[in-house]
Amino acid sequence: MEIRNIFVVGSGLMGSGIAQTAIQHGYNVTLNDQSKAALERGQAGISKRLDRLVEKGRMTAEEKQACMDRLTTSVSVHTAANADLVIEAIYENLEAKRAIFQQLDKICDAHTIFASNTSSISMTSLAAATSRPERVVGMHFFSPVPVMSLVEIVYGLRTSKEVMDIVAGVGEHMGKRTILAKDKPGFIVNRMLLPMLNEAVQVLDEDIGSVEDVDEGMMRGCNHPMGPLALADMIGLDILLEVMETFYLDLGDTKYRPSHLLRKMVAAGYLGRKSGAGFYLYDEGKKIGVNPIFVKH
Ligand SMILES: NC(=O)c1ccc[n+]([C@@H]2O[C@H](COP(=O)([O-])OP(=O)(O)OC[C@H]3O[C@@H](n4cnc5c(N)ncnc54)[C@H](O)[C@@H]3O)[C@@H](O)[C@H]2O)c1
Repeated sequence: MEIRNIFVVGSGLMGSGIAQTAIQHGYNVTLNDQSKAALERGQAGISKRLDRLVEKGRMTAEEKQACMDRLTTSVSVHTAANADLVIEAIYENLEAKRAIFQQLDKICDAHTIFASNTSSISMTSLAAATSRPERVVGMHFFSPVPVMSLVEIVYGLRTSKEVMDIVAGVGEHMGKRTILAKDKPGFIVNRMLLPMLNEAVQVLDEDIGSVEDVDEGMMRGCNHPMGPLALADMIGLDILLEVMETFYLDLGDTKYRPSHLLRKMVAAGYLGRKSGAGFYLYDEGKKIGVNPIFVKH
């Protein structure tokens, strides 16, 4: 089965990145969002990022125009009728995602594949909201989508092998490497990464090292491009806490218990970069120093 028309639901950070990557690789994309303002933001962001590629000589102005011509925006889900593949990237909420899939199940052709970019929701329970569970699959992209070269293909209990192969082909056609993950909390990457970030917070809480030394340790000792505390700030400490709570509840092992310091940071409103303060302080998104609560006197 050939995939030509992709319907992306949600025009936020991930949805607009997925739409951009898809049009750059020849797919026709309809970008959908319930908010007109979000759609306009998504489309303007794509155009600006492609302009930057033109400025850098990595794309011609004509190629940029051809990409933009492959992009349509719509506030209505009914325009999904001709989609071969739906990629859902709305906010992380099972009921909202199930509602979208239920609606699309009635609109789309029987051959249409439903993919979700969820980071943590079970594909098996999402698939159960549709009449086509064997055609429901996870396509977990990483942020920023046009830059990061990985897609996790997540298979639920009833996902067919044919559908896994088709979406892996789409990911590879978009220039990504794909890896296959079973439907378990965190899939492959976040299952390893988030407990490591939680452990970095624990190391800080036990006063084993300072904020800067914890980050420096992993950057210089393990060649990570970014320290774990800075990365936790970027992801959002509330999101890290929520995911660790889910791991702890679902997997039941104390090694997933969220660090006390992480809980306190979230309770204090230190959510990371988006709130202006986490382990570091931020000014308009730029790191300007360590949060003074961690500076020893
Ligand atoms: N942010 C990341 O780094 C990241 C990485 C991998 C996966 N994800 C996953 O991707 C998904 C989207 O995350 P994001 O960071 O892009 O979120 P976001 O908040 O930036 O964007 C979500 C968009 O969905 C729209 N939306 C909400 N409900 C809708 C509906 N019913 N119909 C149409 N549009 C709707 C919102 O208006 C918003 O524009 C989540 O499932 C998240 O877990 C995020």
